[in-house]
Amino acid sequence: MNLILLGPPGAGKGTQAQKIVERYHIPQISTGDILRAAVKEKTPLGLKAKGFMDQGQLVPDDLVIGIIGERLKDPDCNQGFILDGFPRTIPQAEALQPILVKLGKSIDHVISIEVDPEELVRRLTGRRTCKNCGAMYHVLFNPTQHEWMCDRCGGRLYQRDDDKEETIRTRLKEYEKQTAPLIQYYKSKNSLRSIQGIGGLDEIFERMVRLLDTKPR
Ligand code: AP5
Ligand code: MG
Ligand code: ZN
Repeated sequence: MNLILLGPPGAGKGTQAQKIVERYHIPQISTGDILRAAVKEKTPLGLKAKGFMDQGQLVPDDLVIGIIGERLKDPDCNQGFILDGFPRTIPQAEALQPILVKLGKSIDHVISIEVDPEELVRRLTGRRTCKNCGAMYHVLFNPTQHEWMCDRCGGRLYQRDDDKEETIRTRLKEYEKQTAPLIQYYKSKNSLRSIQGIGGLDEIFERMVRLLDTKPR
């Protein structure tokens, strides 16, 4: 099962992707996670991406397209994959097509998670992530038992650098300008399905599973 998760910052792409990984045993490919790791390691890619990310802007298309082109070749993608945060622009979507054809793959589901902007800001300002295992929490909506400590592995939690209110506003604007047009793009190809992203984590996951377990169009 090859899947694209679309949705604004804070829609729950990463949260739902982690649940999909557990249930369907296919890898989550988050360009955001890959870029953050590169920034941390100060690789050439990370050095190029850092300034854009800190400002809440999208990283240039050629960089992320390169990442995805390489990552999809890995053998763990043979049973399927979840693209979380890619494509994010029309040129990225257009570049994905020939990459997939070359690998003999195609996309089965494009799922757009819909959440209104004010809720997104609330979610992002309260997000906490585990440094060790990547598990995601929210101080109000999905709290850990002990502050700053991961329930799953005991690792330390951190707040993402781009989860400051001002940067969040820029990310939401970038989304509207550059990424929202993908909804129409995939609609016109008849491959888009939307789910309401408001509700409990498990409730939303059930909506997701219902879509994933029905045959793609
Ligand atoms: P990226 O890491 O992809 O961030 P994003 O798109 O801004 O999305 P987020 O990860 O912030 O949100 P999410 O939808 O995963 O929500 P989550 O599940 O965490 O990208 C970061 C940066 O990298 C970009 O700004 C750009 O610079 C660069 N980049 C990445 N990909 C790129 C690309 N393709 N092209 C160019 N540049 C790229 O949930 C958020 C919070 O809400 C959590 O605290 C969670 O616990 C909580 N939550 C989740 N679901 C619910 C719920 N149902 N109810 C209540 N709370 C909930
Ligand atoms: Mg994410
Ligand atoms: Zn952890």
